[in-house]
Amino acid sequence: MKVSIRHILSLEDFEHAARKVLPKPLFAYVAGAVEDGVSAALNRTAFSKYAFCPNVLVDVSQRSTSVNILGKAYAAPVGIAPMGIAALTSYRGDVVLAEAAANANIPSIMSGSSLIRLEEVMSKAPQTWFQAYLPGDALQIAALIDRVRSAGVETLVLTVDTPVAANRENNVRAGFSTPLRPSLSLALQGITHPRWLVCTFLRTLFHHGMPHFENNYATRGAPILSSSVLRDFADRGHLNWTHVAEIRKSWRGQLIIKGILNAKDALTAKNLGVDAIIVSNHGGRQLDGSVAPLQVLPLVLDAVGELPVMIDSGVRRGTDVMKAMALGAKAVFIGRPFNYAASIAGRSGVDHAITLIIEELRRDLGLLGVVGFDTLTREFLSEV
Ligand code: GLV
Repeated sequence: MKVSIRHILSLEDFEHAARKVLPKPLFAYVAGAVEDGVSAALNRTAFSKYAFCPNVLVDVSQRSTSVNILGKAYAAPVGIAPMGIAALTSYRGDVVLAEAAANANIPSIMSGSSLIRLEEVMSKAPQTWFQAYLPGDALQIAALIDRVRSAGVETLVLTVDTPVAANRENNVRAGFSTPLRPSLSLALQGITHPRWLVCTFLRTLFHHGMPHFENNYATRGAPILSSSVLRDFADRGHLNWTHVAEIRKSWRGQLIIKGILNAKDALTAKNLGVDAIIVSNHGGRQLDGSVAPLQVLPLVLDAVGELPVMIDSGVRRGTDVMKAMALGAKAVFIGRPFNYAASIAGRSGVDHAITLIIEELRRDLGLLGVVGFDTLTREFLSEV
């Protein structure tokens, strides 16, 4: 029972298809941002503030989208951003996303707010990066890091833009919460979305039991459906740079900080010895009105020199990726469209999404007169 993907010509098209397939609360959770959606809108308009100045009559017949990110060769500078509860919007979602990325040789980051054990994803796609939300206290942090290390993770991404829960009014309006509360309207949503009910939810229940948050801590967390559990996340309000410094001392793998939005924090991260940062406003899902990552990217790059800087939030087109790369990003992560792709067509949906964006990049490189990302520079952009 899969939706035809023949008519999906761009990443944005996946959203329209997923809206029909997913129960309203789940679609709202993925699609939604926070409060008035100001940051989500800024994320998109930031890209339109730059225009291309192509070079013509360059031999681009041998162009390549491949890049090196943190010492590893990838097929393109575009990766799958971490997304929570992906296994509720598509069957075995985290595995599907990680395996599709591994197959295409692009990076993917598994969310810590996920419903499949990290160990399972790592056994199927061993190069997957893991994104952790740090739990509340030092012992829990150490236990989680130990677990992540034992699972074979080499690249650990710490998300730092969630000190307190965001005001996701859209979730409340759509009847979404974590855990989900059993209710008549939730049941109706299931019944009226039979493809999701049978192929994702019941199939998961049948083969794997009730999904639980598996990777927020060293041990299993709350179930995704419960009327009694109050919340699934610890308070992270007191987390600060000393926690990052501690982790840096004990974590020998690559350490990336995600959620930085200013030059000062970027420099602090660099001075603490992180391997890279991801400039991100969490897809406009945390502090509404926070600046678009693309807007601050040049300032951050100026501040940190050679430190690899990546971005996410609002990226939908090959041309968006090209703009970020021309400004100096090392890689660009895309979230929601891959989630929708998995929701409507599982692995073939995600494969299709990856193919679409890489084809766009190949085409854009050619049209811009560039043979590879190492020659794509700021000179190819003009501010609008
Ligand atoms: C999780 O990271 C979310 O933004 O909901």
